[in-house]
Amino acid sequence: MSWIFMQFLFALNLMLLVHAMDQSGFISIDCGIPENSSYTESKTGIKYISDARFIDTGERKLVLPNQRNYTQPYWSLRRFPEGTRNCYKINVTSGMRYLIRACFFYGNYDGYNKLPEFELHLGANWWDTVKFKDAATDKKKELIYTPLRNNIHVCLVNIGSGIPFISTIELRPLPNETYQTQMGSLELVSRYDIGQIDTRRGYRYPYDPFDRIWSSSYNSSDDWARLRTLSPVNFSENSYQLPSIVMSTAATPRDVYDPLNIHWLPSYDSNAQYHIYMHFAEVEKLQPNQSRQFNITRNGKLFLGLVTPSYWSTATICNSEAFGGGQNTFSILKAENSSLPPILNAFEIYKVKEFLYSDTNQEDIDAITNIKETYKIRKNWQGDPCSPQAYSWEGLNCSYQSYHAYEPLSIITLNLSSNGLTGEIAPSISDLAKIKTLDLSNNNLTGTIPTFLSQLPDLNFINLEKNKLTGSVPVELIERRNDGLLSLSLCQNLNLSGYVPCKLKKKHNFLILELVSIFGTSILLLTVAAICFWGLKRKRQHGDVTAAKATIQLGSLESTKRKFTYSEILKITNNFERTLGKGGFGTVYHGCIDKTQVAIKMLSLSAVQGFQQFHAEVDLLMRVHHKNLTSFVGYCNDKTRVGLVYEYMCNGNLQEHLSDVSSNILAWEDRLRIAIDAAQGLEYLHYGCKPPIIHRDIKSTNILLNENFQAKLADFGLSKIFPTNDGSHVSTLVAGTPGYLDPEYYLSNRLNEKSDVYSFGIVLLEIITSRPVLSKLTERIHISQWVGFMLEKGDIYSIVDSRLKENFNVNSVWKAVEIAMACVSPNVIKRPIMSQVVVELKESLVTELAQTKQEYETESRISIEIMSSNSLAMLSPSIR
Ligand SMILES: *[C@@H]1O[C@H](CO)[C@@H](O)[C@H](O)[C@H]1NC(C)=O
Ligand SMILES: *[C@@H]1O[C@H](CO)[C@@H](O)[C@H](O)[C@H]1NC(C)=O
Ligand SMILES: *[C@@H]1O[C@H](CO)[C@@H](O)[C@H](O)[C@H]1NC(C)=O
Ligand SMILES: *[C@@H]1O[C@H](CO)[C@@H](O)[C@H](O)[C@H]1NC(C)=O
Ligand SMILES: *[C@@H]1O[C@H](CO)[C@@H](O)[C@H](O)[C@H]1NC(C)=O
Ligand SMILES: *[C@@H]1O[C@H](CO)[C@@H](O)[C@H](O)[C@H]1NC(C)=O
Ligand SMILES: *[C@@H]1O[C@H](CO)[C@@H](O)[C@H](O)[C@H]1NC(C)=O
Ligand SMILES: *[C@@H]1O[C@H](CO)[C@@H](O)[C@H](O)[C@H]1NC(C)=O
Ligand SMILES: *[C@@H]1O[C@H](CO)[C@@H](O)[C@H](O)[C@H]1NC(C)=O
Ligand SMILES: *[C@@H]1O[C@H](CO)[C@@H](O)[C@H](O)[C@H]1NC(C)=O
Repeated sequence: MSWIFMQFLFALNLMLLVHAMDQSGFISIDCGIPENSSYTESKTGIKYISDARFIDTGERKLVLPNQRNYTQPYWSLRRFPEGTRNCYKINVTSGMRYLIRACFFYGNYDGYNKLPEFELHLGANWWDTVKFKDAATDKKKELIYTPLRNNIHVCLVNIGSGIPFISTIELRPLPNETYQTQMGSLELVSRYDIGQIDTRRGYRYPYDPFDRIWSSSYNSSDDWARLRTLSPVNFSENSYQLPSIVMSTAATPRDVYDPLNIHWLPSYDSNAQYHIYMHFAEVEKLQPNQSRQFNITRNGKLFLGLVTPSYWSTATICNSEAFGGGQNTFSILKAENSSLPPILNAFEIYKVKEFLYSDTNQEDIDAITNIKETYKIRKNWQGDPCSPQAYSWEGLNCSYQSYHAYEPLSIITLNLSSNGLTGEIAPSISDLAKIKTLDLSNNNLTGTIPTFLSQLPDLNFINLEKNKLTGSVPVELIERRNDGLLSLSLCQNLNLSGYVPCKLKKKHNFLILELVSIFGTSILLLTVAAICFWGLKRKRQHGDVTAAKATIQLGSLESTKRKFTYSEILKITNNFERTLGKGGFGTVYHGCIDKTQVAIKMLSLSAVQGFQQFHAEVDLLMRVHHKNLTSFVGYCNDKTRVGLVYEYMCNGNLQEHLSDVSSNILAWEDRLRIAIDAAQGLEYLHYGCKPPIIHRDIKSTNILLNENFQAKLADFGLSKIFPTNDGSHVSTLVAGTPGYLDPEYYLSNRLNEKSDVYSFGIVLLEIITSRPVLSKLTERIHISQWVGFMLEKGDIYSIVDSRLKENFNVNSVWKAVEIAMACVSPNVIKRPIMSQVVVELKESLVTELAQTKQEYETESRISIEIMSSNSLAMLSPSIR
């Protein structure tokens, strides 16, 4: 009795402690309530508004009254029976970090009791698949995301398993120093308020100023006891601003010597990367002879030592570098001198989510949105106009050849033929800078033909037939047409004055048929001549266009990484004092930013082809991040001076260390570690990136070594994104370096990730033998032929670099040779995939180490960041 009463008082007091917080920046959308309506939800005080101004499709539905045991936002929903993709467009502040939550509650609203399954997309990218356990359980999807545009698209995609719907969309701004990642966004895996007594509800706003929802249902299989503050207090906060009610309860093991373990199931995706946030605060007033201090381990290895939580003050511990999937167990253990067992108040786990698909460029989005509004187009024109390609807007075509190079897409075709358009030709069309084809035929367009149509450089096809246009045709258009730069058709506009070109817009292959059917009309013969002439002229024009393409646009780069001016680059490099190397695209210089050394690649504009490689590289670097890929610090784009700033790899490239002039001979173990690093980098490109990336130029000079001889892949210039959906290869111009080039690729021009495997195999042979890939003798014997020949003789010792002097485990080397030979197999199917290569190389290393009895450190280095307002000093100083 009295216990219940105490609980009640306790809760009541905490209620009073809730900060005076406002909802500024919150966007709380209740989908499916009437247009312009809003209400304040009674439990949270959150003000929800109707979704009608964010979307113009879908239909409103209500769940039945007997299903309304959740709060009001779940009583209504919007469903999308029409169209494959429907998108909400929500204005946001670009560069602001947001917690974005989409909630779904089916509640058998349609009476069919059939659970739908559909996809949730954020802009052009897949976010998650929405599946339900049962009709009465909701689904929440949460993401921490920093938009780079001033709006986001939340899209629902029908995958043929029922009608997509959505109940609420909530956006909450977060301080930008919280929940940081080196790359990508964070997807919530779990968030627990440990030791909470009230298990019925999750605390959220107004307790939590960011409206995180704290679940109290964490059920440890271990024997845990609950701890809580005896009196209501305000916990002093760090920037994560944990609610006092969450921090006032904690768990502790019943046995002082037991650890508190947190584990979660390994992800099906072996490349998954995670961030954990553990929140600690002391909740008991300790006696002078008591102390609480603990160590945190991950999979048995020390993660952070000697943590002492401060009384009523929150400290947050997180990993600044994401760690891999697989089995993860965090254990919090009493330190030697602690008299009390460890505690844990709350924790969160997030998965890194990388959104790789590019969007349409902003000017084109604005223009097409304007056109949509001008003509009140009722088609399902929602979300990004071009991306993903499968859901591009009907009537548009875009520049997809650059899609996989991560360039922003441009609209190149606008076909609004027979759409009942009225009014004038929309001026916004002039903002579609890359448009080639414009078809507005068979509408009711009025007014004159605007001159701007002649100023769009790439526009070579205009069809305005069957409208009600008036006035005279602009001279410039007629001139462009007469110059053979434009196909122009203006037939059946009764009120156009002067010369009205009327051209049949048929393709060449239809001409013969046409001639047969209307043979005899000499007008048609004339038309044929005109088209042929036009074709010739076009070709010449095309050549000019490529030559003139020296202007530089790195638009997609803005705002994410640091941008340097040319004068800053001069300062950083001390007027290009030290050259590190030269490549096809330009020169690499040494530089210093503050005291950090960097490498700067400056593009020589004379290399026209180099520019494209360079550009591809920039866009790629922006989006990939892995410990075995050289990381990108920033870029310079000052008029014609373009440069990329990378981390400096002070030990140069692998080839330098393998060559006989190198004074320092790499031990076999070091070589294996380098091989594993490089293999992991490549594995990430192939399997960690969506769409996968083929490097195309793996070679020993493209493998760089840092001060710890950790290897990283460099030079993404030739990388080509490998599309997953259309077949298993891409045809492309042969690029690469002789000796490393997959012969199969060379012959067939068919590129797949096995071409990289081949090149990697060659690098591995170099690592083993230290021989040049192509011997300098006149016969030019290839390294794989040479090793094959030696293998036939069964002579492993003569294969291995003689400078190693038998300081290696022969089984380990055998294994490595086998892997390398499998990689360079002429039969593509017999080549292993990179994940297999990584596993086998690790086995080879284990064999080597078993002999030398050293311990192999598989853990990636974890650096720890502590966020705390006033408890920092209490934590071990050694952790920074
Ligand atoms: C909603 O508000 C807008 C702007 O005030 C108004 O034009 C529109 O008619 C309203 N819609 C309804 C259904 O009341
Ligand atoms: C909600 O109410 C319905 C009908 O009363 C019941 O079947 C269902 O289990 C309840 N759901 C929850 C989550 O309480
Ligand atoms: C979003 O912003 C644009 C441009 O600032 C504005 O025209 C539009 O009305 C806004 N939309 C909503 C739903 O607030
Ligand atoms: C992040 O916060 C800092 C300091 O408050 C501010 O200067 C910066 O502009 C913020 N960044 C973004 C992207 O809002
Ligand atoms: C927690 O899990 C244990 C077994 O692991 C189970 O016996 C117990 O009922 C669970 N408690 C709750 C509240 O789910
Ligand atoms: C807790 O904080 C609120 C607002 O910051 C303040 O009004 C209140 O007095 C504080 N309570 C205690 C017990 O310190
Ligand atoms: C700590 O001191 C209290 C009295 O202040 C005593 O009761 C308790 O046994 C002491 N505990 C230890 C571990 O010494
Ligand atoms: C805890 O960490 C400290 C410092 O890192 C270390 O010296 C100590 O051995 C660790 N204790 C345990 C029990 O692991
Ligand atoms: C534990 O306490 C002893 C005696 O006070 C001290 O010498 C030792 O350094 C402490 N160990 C740690 C890990 O703090
Ligand atoms: C043009 O408008 C008239 C009258 O509104 C309508 O009958 C006709 O179908 C329209 N023509 C086209 C091509 O949309």
